[in-house]
Amino acid sequence: MKTIVIALGGSLLDIRGETIDRFIELIREVGKDYKVFVVVGGGKIAKEYIGFGRKHGIDEEKLDEIGIAATRLNAKLISTLLGIEGEIPHSVEEAVSKKGSVVIMGGTKPGHSTDAVAAELAVKSDAEKLIIATDVRGVYDKDPKKFKDACFLKEISINKLIELHGTKWKRAGDSAVIDGPALQVIRDFRIRTVVVNGKDVENLKKAIYGEDFDGTRIKLANEIDV
Ligand code: UTP
Repeated sequence: MKTIVIALGGSLLDIRGETIDRFIELIREVGKDYKVFVVVGGGKIAKEYIGFGRKHGIDEEKLDEIGIAATRLNAKLISTLLGIEGEIPHSVEEAVSKKGSVVIMGGTKPGHSTDAVAAELAVKSDAEKLIIATDVRGVYDKDPKKFKDACFLKEISINKLIELHGTKWKRAGDSAVIDGPALQVIRDFRIRTVVVNGKDVENLKKAIYGEDFDGTRIKLANEIDV
């Protein structure tokens, strides 16, 4: 059975909407065809708690820990809804050792976001590809939430992404379409990666199954086959 890793952005997990139910359905379906690891982000809870903590002078490492707790809360919700027994894995090694076709987890340790956890998991599980599901169409030349004239990119090379964003971890709660440490892992281990809007669950499914999808494909260095 082939393996895929999905980084599910926390911004997609609004418990007031219906998207969570649709993700659950999709993950159940995909789990019949793939070994699937889902790394869940912290979303609004992480950002609000980190913002509050920062105002109260909590140091950056502890803010990361608060963020991790939020990602694990979201992961626990998804994992429980899927009927998965036991605790969610707290490390990539633990996740890889789990039996069962679906494994759900959140963050691991300070210094990166769940994107980097997903990239590391893709390496350790020898995954066919990494899918970053976020709340925008894919990668843009600048932040589409800040700039109306931002241009969507169907493809971008990993080297260009690193040139634009670097490989350093910025700080707790700061959003980037893919965090720096994850970019480094994607480049170093040549992970096939795509970025899609996870709000469009049908489109996310297409990306998983290798069909034509709307989103961005990350080109790896020296890639010949486009
Ligand atoms: P997210 O993965 O949701 O990160 O983790 P993000 O980049 O802030 O969110 P998006 O990209 O907008 O969805 C939330 C926070 O938890 C901490 C970081 O502080 C991160 O910002 N975290 C998460 C870690 O320190 N380590 C981890 O492994 C995961």
